[in-house]
Amino acid sequence: MIIGVPKEIKNNENRVAITPAGVRELKKHKHTVYIQSTAGEGSGFTDAEYRKVGAKILKTIQEVYKKAEMIIKVKEPIKQEYKLIKKGQLVFTYFHFASHRPLTDAMIKSGATCLAYETVEEPNRELPLLVPMSEVAGRMAIQEGAKYLEKPVKGRGVLLGGVPGVPPGKVLILGGGVVGTQAAKMAAGLGASVTILDISLPRLRQLNDILPANVTTLFSSTHNIEMLIKDHDLIVGAVLIPGAKAPNLITREMLKDMRPGTVLVDVAVDQGGCIETCKATTHQKPTYIIDDIVHYCVANMPGAVPYTSTIALTNATLPYAVRLANKGWKTACKEDPTLRKGLNIIDGKVVYEGVATAFDMKYHPVDSFLD
Ligand SMILES: NC(=O)c1ccc[n+]([C@@H]2O[C@H](COP(=O)([O-])OP(=O)(O)OC[C@H]3O[C@@H](n4cnc5c(N)ncnc54)[C@H](O)[C@@H]3O)[C@@H](O)[C@H]2O)c1
Repeated sequence: MIIGVPKEIKNNENRVAITPAGVRELKKHKHTVYIQSTAGEGSGFTDAEYRKVGAKILKTIQEVYKKAEMIIKVKEPIKQEYKLIKKGQLVFTYFHFASHRPLTDAMIKSGATCLAYETVEEPNRELPLLVPMSEVAGRMAIQEGAKYLEKPVKGRGVLLGGVPGVPPGKVLILGGGVVGTQAAKMAAGLGASVTILDISLPRLRQLNDILPANVTTLFSSTHNIEMLIKDHDLIVGAVLIPGAKAPNLITREMLKDMRPGTVLVDVAVDQGGCIETCKATTHQKPTYIIDDIVHYCVANMPGAVPYTSTIALTNATLPYAVRLANKGWKTACKEDPTLRKGLNIIDGKVVYEGVATAFDMKYHPVDSFLD
């Protein structure tokens, strides 16, 4: 198959959809890989490295879209790319259609097959192509939180690990899913005193088994949260209710019960945040202060560590990309229900129920396209 990897042109996106190691894998299966010049630069991969493993470098994004049967990307196509996507072309990337009507309309019009990373779903409901970015964001939450606890950036002036003779900082994590677990591991590793909250008792049992002794698990309730925010230095928001806005577990009113310089990192900002005073920020200006409380609410945290994020993402996407290239999307999706869940639009028809419902469009069951 002929595969094309364009350079990401969305503002501040430095990831790339394939690493040189991934190209090597596709070449092993005799596929042709075109990479747009400098596409890997932001993640630390040069054109020469791609060339060395057999990729062909193309100067312009137009050439990549023109030649490829399958496009592999990171972010959803943006307006300039809409017209480049061809009928029958397979586009494998994050789309997040349900929150973006113009993109949905454009992809319907294009006649392309759109396979969305975020809806590839395993039978146990895990989302294997979203997990790596949650792992990155969870680990980063502590790194960023530790930084903003420093006094010159208006934090409390607390070193999370403490030192001999001085107690460690206290970290409160709301939500014990992928983000919360990774945050807890990092905070515990730094020597902080960590409390992690969830509403799922099975999850709390599991966390209690796997996390070190400086992590306490607690059932999530307003009562417990009100008690804990009074003496915790860093609070991480990591709750998710699939398909819904995150609940406001910390209200504006509760900020006055925190000590000045407390740092809030609301990773759930992309679902509206679980802290009432959360509003999305960027890596250019990641924080703002309300009532002496530092808020960090960056909506694309993994974007700050593109080297790690690119490798983490492509580790997860590559096996699917190889299968799509080897078998073609129809056979690959027929054989693999996990991959089949990723199909959102085929030849101008919406085949993912959530997207059809979001825009009151006709839903076409995917099976009729796989015969
Ligand atoms: N800002 C970023 O850059 C970035 C990056 C990756 C993920 N995220 C977001 O982080 C959030 C968490 O993602 P995840 O992968 O960890 O989700 P997840 O589904 O693995 O975990 C969510 C957890 O929240 C728990 N929960 C639900 N309601 C709760 C409540 N009231 N109190 C305590 N816990 C509660 C659930 O039981 C679950 O264990 C999502 O909104 C995700 O989109 C943001």
